[in-house]
Amino acid sequence: MAVPRSQSARFIASIVATNIMLFSLPSQAQQERGEALFLANCAECHQSNGRGIANVYPALDGSEVVRGSGADVAFVLIIGRGEMPSFKGALDETEMAALINYVRNAWSNSGEPISASEVAALLEP
Ligand code: HEC
Repeated sequence: MAVPRSQSARFIASIVATNIMLFSLPSQAQQERGEALFLANCAECHQSNGRGIANVYPALDGSEVVRGSGADVAFVLIIGRGEMPSFKGALDETEMAALINYVRNAWSNSGEPISASEVAALLEP
């Protein structure tokens, strides 16, 4: 059976659009991995609800840094900040990307995801 050209073009376009959507959102599995990493490495200070502790540990929920860009969060993790230790060596690029995408899309935050290879490029000396 011959499929009319316009119909097959529309079909292909819809598959392409669906895949672009899937790739630009962190997957459910990646968010779950990020949450587990957050609870294990960060929640002790920033709290599992992301609200931190007033005047001691800043809130990540609503933080300008967290909402700003994935690369900014990566730099905080790589370099450390004030009393916060560096996580370079403790977490690899895949773990950092999952963690960054989790905090950027947890609670009231929402932001574009960063990929593990983008984090790897920032980890290079
Ligand atoms: C030992 C406590 C501690 C742990 C563990 C910790 N942090 Fe922090 N974090 C801090 C402190 C303190 C600051 C503020 C440092 C400053 O500005 O002087 C901070 C700042 C930040 C900031 C910047 C926030 C802003 O709005 O300025 C981000 C992002 C962040 N932490 C993410 C994380 C993530 C993700 C983890 C887990 C991998 C983590 N932190 C683990 C203590 C901690």
